[in-house]
Amino acid sequence: MTSSGFFVTTPIYYISGDPHIGHAYTSIAADVLARYHRTLGPAFLLTGTDEHGQKVEAAAREAGFDPQTWTDRLVPKWQALDRTFEVSYDDFIRTTEARHTTQVVAVFERLKATGDVYLGKYEGWYCTNDETFWLESKLVDGHCPNPECGRAVQWLSEDNWFFALSKFRERLLAYYSDNPGWVRPERAYNEMVATLESGLDDLCISRVNLDWGIPLPGGGVMYVWLDALLNYITALDFATNGERFQTFWPASVQLIGKEIARFHTIVWPAVLWALGLEAPKLVFAHGWITLEGEKMSKSKGNIVDPFALADRFGSDTIRYFFMREARFGSDFSFGEEKVRLRRNGDLGNDLGNLVKRTLAMLARYRGGRVPDVSADSDLAVRFADLGARVGAQIAVLAFRDALDAVWELVTALNVRVEERKPWELSKRGDDAALDAVLYDLCEGLRWLAHLTFPFMPATARGIWAQLGLPGEPQGPWAEHLVWGGLAAGTQTVAAEAALFPRLDEPAEVL
Ligand code: MSP
Repeated sequence: MTSSGFFVTTPIYYISGDPHIGHAYTSIAADVLARYHRTLGPAFLLTGTDEHGQKVEAAAREAGFDPQTWTDRLVPKWQALDRTFEVSYDDFIRTTEARHTTQVVAVFERLKATGDVYLGKYEGWYCTNDETFWLESKLVDGHCPNPECGRAVQWLSEDNWFFALSKFRERLLAYYSDNPGWVRPERAYNEMVATLESGLDDLCISRVNLDWGIPLPGGGVMYVWLDALLNYITALDFATNGERFQTFWPASVQLIGKEIARFHTIVWPAVLWALGLEAPKLVFAHGWITLEGEKMSKSKGNIVDPFALADRFGSDTIRYFFMREARFGSDFSFGEEKVRLRRNGDLGNDLGNLVKRTLAMLARYRGGRVPDVSADSDLAVRFADLGARVGAQIAVLAFRDALDAVWELVTALNVRVEERKPWELSKRGDDAALDAVLYDLCEGLRWLAHLTFPFMPATARGIWAQLGLPGEPQGPWAEHLVWGGLAAGTQTVAAEAALFPRLDEPAEVL
């Protein structure tokens, strides 16, 4: 079995509070992939919320709500995050939905039947914040060893269900060595191999002293991590092996933050294999957005409100900033000044002005109509492989390189204006030369609408509409990015407003 469609997932987010920009970051990257792959064929973007477990329950109780009411109240805010940043999900799964919980119980029964789940006794140190058991030897001064956490741990002693993870160790090691690209970036891959080499314990997958989870037959609730991981297949209706599942599993790309790599690249494939299913084709563990060197997180209290940020800069500026600022996979530090520089520089000066100047000149010299040209353009040859190059970079999640390549065209068009000086051609009455440069500029904008669409959908639509083209830039680049595609005579409609008005004031404190 191999999936025919493109399936990309985000982690499902803990709904213990409001979203922050770290959550938007993952979802935006997933959306760029989905939008690009939709130009090629069926693509499915899945996201959602992780609603069970002690952490969510504690947050709900602290706020004075029962957990279900609390999550019901918060979900719209998480969906609003996706709307704000134009994250075009195809499904949003909540782990409290019946479609999920019933399949999770079915998985549990199935794994019990195969012997991969068995009853045992668990005693150990538990960190509520990370929802993780730790070996005594791993604790740091009696506290959680996760450097991002460091909280006190509790001693638990319970009869619990276990998943026989240890028996998959050899298969996992073999899988890693046969598929060196299946976990990226390489640092994450190496860390996971080292973890596997140092040994693997079975995983405790039930909790008896907790109510807020999926009830298991015979008592207790399911461990929140197994419950959560299963969302990736319950959302596809795997239990009925329906069309969605057949088209989209195994997942093409599962995006995660690097702190949750162990669950996704050791536990998750083993669970899938126990169910007789394939592991995802790629798990990509991206870096963290940091503030003054520390991971931005609710528990650190150093979060930036994504809604305020979008209000101030616009969603496309933030999307662009995230995808251009650092290599995907590396950490990068957030600062509003950096956003402002990208906004005024790359977006305002380079792209926004290009669009404005082009359409203004076309309006002035040709009544806004795209001229008819007969001679071939040198740009046709120079950028013949641009669509293929940008597509290939997006396909391997090299978003920054992809945008660098798109900006080669932006720069070439700006240089063309400076070199050919359409205003002088007009003064001299050199109509053929003026038509040629105006055509190239407009055609270049049509290309840019296609190429920027996955990254900045609103901007791409804006360029498209100003070119007088119907709908949105859609369809395979191999077909559409052929120089000369813009029909002569097309009536453009220059917008009054700039695409990226300059932001001069110092950033407010958000
Ligand atoms: N609920 C689990 C995931 C279960 S998936 C089966 C969880 N949720 S989370 O809300 O804590 O955060 C999940 C993801 O948000 C991270 O893996 C990462 O993708 C993203 N980020 C959260 N903070 C981030 C940064 N500061 N920087 C970049 N991404 C961040 O873990």
